[in-house]
Order: sequence, then C-alpha cells, then structure tokens
Amino acid sequence: MFLDRVKPLDAILATAEKHALTRTLGAVQLTLLGVGAIIGTGIFVLTSEAAQKAGPGMMWSFVIAACVCGVAALCYSELASMVPVAGSAYTYTYAVMGELLAWTVGWALILEYAVAASAVSVGWSGYFVGLLASWGVELPKALTVGPYAGGIVNLPALIIALLVTVLLMVGTTESARVNAVLVAIKVTALTVFIALTLPVLNGAEFEPFMPNGVFGNGNGAGLGVVGAAASIFFAYVGFDAVSTAAEETRNPQRNVPIGLIGSLAICTVFYLLVAAGAIGAVGAQPVPGADGSVIQPGTAEFASQCQAMIAAGTEPLVCSHEALAFVLREIGWERIGDLIGIAAFLALPSVILIMLFGQTRIFFVMARDGLLPSKLASIHPKWKTPHVVTMITGVAVAIFAAFLPVGKLADISNSGTLFAFFMVALAVLILRRAQPDRPRPFRTPLVWLVAPLAMLGTLGLFFNLPLEAKMVLPVWGGLGLIVYFLYGRRNSHVGQGITDVPEDDADAPPVPVPPMPNAPTPGRKDA
Ligand code: ALA
Repeated sequence: MFLDRVKPLDAILATAEKHALTRTLGAVQLTLLGVGAIIGTGIFVLTSEAAQKAGPGMMWSFVIAACVCGVAALCYSELASMVPVAGSAYTYTYAVMGELLAWTVGWALILEYAVAASAVSVGWSGYFVGLLASWGVELPKALTVGPYAGGIVNLPALIIALLVTVLLMVGTTESARVNAVLVAIKVTALTVFIALTLPVLNGAEFEPFMPNGVFGNGNGAGLGVVGAAASIFFAYVGFDAVSTAAEETRNPQRNVPIGLIGSLAICTVFYLLVAAGAIGAVGAQPVPGADGSVIQPGTAEFASQCQAMIAAGTEPLVCSHEALAFVLREIGWERIGDLIGIAAFLALPSVILIMLFGQTRIFFVMARDGLLPSKLASIHPKWKTPHVVTMITGVAVAIFAAFLPVGKLADISNSGTLFAFFMVALAVLILRRAQPDRPRPFRTPLVWLVAPLAMLGTLGLFFNLPLEAKMVLPVWGGLGLIVYFLYGRRNSHVGQGITDVPEDDADAPPVPVPPMPNAPTPGRKDA
C-alpha cells in the first residue's frame, strides 16, 4: 500500500513546463557550476583525513570514489535529461517508486546538503585559523575546535555558517561573474599546488603504500583504502547540483550529461595530481595510536597523538587542518602556502552557499508537493527568499559545525548522498523496464552493467563508512518516517489526487534562483 502513490512522469513534466525558469544555462556554465560545487573542503582539508585512513594508498581511494561517482553520474544523466525538473533524486524517485520512497530520498538529501554545509564550514575554519597563525595571530584553541579535539566550540565555523545563512536570507545569490572568479581561484590554487609539489616528488614517500591495507586491516572501522574512499567521496559531492539545474538549462538533453561528467572528470584529474603532489612532497603516513594501533582521525586519541608530535616539532600532514597550505609551507613556499589559504578562505564559503541553497531547494519541491507545510517555506515579503526555512537550516548547520569534526560531518553527509545515488540507479533500471518506450535523450550506456555497478559501489562505500555515520542514516530515516506519517501522508497533493500545482497558487513558493553562473532572472516562463 505504501508504494502506491506514484506521481506520473507526464504530470511532473507538465508542472515543470508551466513553472519553469527561463532556460539560460549552457554546457560550459553547467560544467563551471559543477566544478564550483565540487571543489571544496574535500580536497583542501580531507586529504589529510584520507591519508590518516589509507596512507599514500589514498590515491586509490580517490580513484574508487571517482568511479562510483562516474557510474552514478551516468544514471543521473539519464533521469536528469528525461525529467529536467527541480528536485533531482527526490523527483525521480517520486515518479518511479512512489511517494514514500521519494520522501525518504528527499529526507536523505537534507542530510546530504545541510551536513555538507557544516563540514565545509569546519574546513573553512581550519584555513582561517591557520592563515591567522601564519601571520602571528594565534586564536585560543578553546574557541577554534570542538570538544572532540580538546576545545569548546569552533567559533569561526559557527560564524561563517551563520554569515552565509544571512546572505541567503537577504537574497544574495552568486552572480555569473562571482562564480566564475571563485572557480578560477580554486582551479588556480590547485594548479599552483601541483606545479610546486610535482617537481619535488620523492618516490620513497610512497612506501609503504597501503599501511592500513585495503579494508583497514579488517577492523571494520572505516579505515584502509576503501574506508578512505568512503570518506573522500565527499570531495566529489556536488556534481549532482548540475542535475538540479536541469530546469534552467538550454537543451538539457545534451548539456546536463556534459556538465555532470565533464565536471567530474576535471575534478578527478586535479585530485589525483594534488594527492600525488602532497604524498610525494611531505609524505602521508598515518599517525599510530599510543599502542601502535591504527586510529581514526577526528577522535580524542588522534588529537592527543598529533599534539604530542607537534610539540616534538614533527607535525605530519595527517594532523593538519589546512592540508594543502601545510604542504607548501613545509617545502619552503610559505607565502604561496598563505595564498592557498586565502584561496580556500575566499572560495569555500561559496560551497557552503551552494549546499545550503540546495537544501532549501529540496524543501521547496517537497513543500510544492504538499509533503511539508508550505508555511515553512513562506517567502519574506521584501527579500523574496524562504527566510524561515533558511534560518532554521542555517542555525542547525552552524550548531553542527561548532561542535563536530570535519571528517565526521563529511561521513554523515556521505551516508545520505550514497543512499540518494543508490535510489537513482535503481530508478533508472525500474524505469527502463516499466516505460521502455519513453524518449530518453541520454541513455546510460550499458545500463544493465552501469546501474548495478553504481548500486554496488554506493552500497560498498556506505558499508565502509565509520559505524556512527552508517547509523545516522537509519536514525534520520526513522525520524523522517514519523514526520511523513504525521504530516506528509495526509497532506500530500498526490494523495489528494492533485498532480499539478495550480499556476497562480499564491501560497506556492516561487522556484528560487540557484547560485550559479548566469543566474537567470527569477520569473516564470509563459505556459
Ligand atoms: N565536494 C564538496 C567539498 O569537497 C562538497 O567541499
């Protein structure tokens, strides 16, 4: 009975047709949007966490995560080109597997976007604090890291999350130019890093290559090459932002797949070169526990081992909160290290903005379907933004950022994202069977191989996340089911037989403008 409420694809397309934004984005802009959303805390900060989990073997972790994202992106492309509407995985699931599963996917996407925003805030804080320290301004540790590392609250992370929230509330969206500049800054920073580290590569730093084995020597704590892949997967998250822009894309059938796969490919090449540069320049061996055991980054034991090493004057890469700047300073490029820090300082907030924005977008579409109260997504009369939902989300994001370590947040975000990707791959297969004749402008090649590989890959990474991150998904999902049965099931538009949104529904939230290149003017296309 629970898989009954399917929203017909034709109704979704008809609704989108009436409410669509002007289609202005092309392939290059979409790829830029993807690169802008992808490059962030993952490569700038989590490189050191990945090294702690896998040592130099993290090169393989980057490859594994990229492959899983690649096959998932091919599945996304088929659905995004067939159903070029807002809502991404949530909307596809609604059309294919019904309301209940769609709700769980939408609920998991909230986890993906909101917790990712927290993780990037903490990553930004690491660079901010490191930059000040290199200029001789030492902020008290109690106010720059959470209790997990002997501090009280990560104030810079809390402040940046709240600042971005305020910007979103008053209606700031990145203009085309700002986005392009920020992408250029990030790409330049990574290019400079590669150019300065590759010439000083030391082959000996790659040995031992996999100190923690493939699966963390079987201790099941999400370590080793595959455990690191499950975490570093975060570095690729964001390419799905391209699919959520399908509704604003010219010729989405062609441009969405180009944007998705192009941005993923560009980032993969950069990440592999950056990882090789970092390992080869300063080494990337994990710090062992006091008894010589393998330890998790982000734990109290890890923090105290790092403190001891720093006190002894031998800070390793894995202990750094600003991995890339650290590497450059270590090899004598102090000022360029500072510039990398400034690049992260400037560019990471835009990733927070995109993530927070994505979250409000999912809320909107769910509210448009009646699964969440439309009052929650009410629009501020002057700012014309969903200020209530943005504020609630922003405060939650800031609180998580203030008290949790970046790696744990990234892992939790990954658990939601992996679930959504799994459902998208499943939806592609079901739809191929159920509606084989529906036009598919982009067909996933070898779909019966690629989609199952995407499902296996996402499952494999999920089960290699640390236990707490794995547990968050069922707990969050359970909470979501309670909300659904208390509210959504009764108020669902599909449940009430309404499969379209009335064109002039004054209460319906307008589709917001995403922070993307050439952000289109808000407004609806004439039906
Ligand atoms: N991929 C994005 C980042 O690494 C979320 O910050």
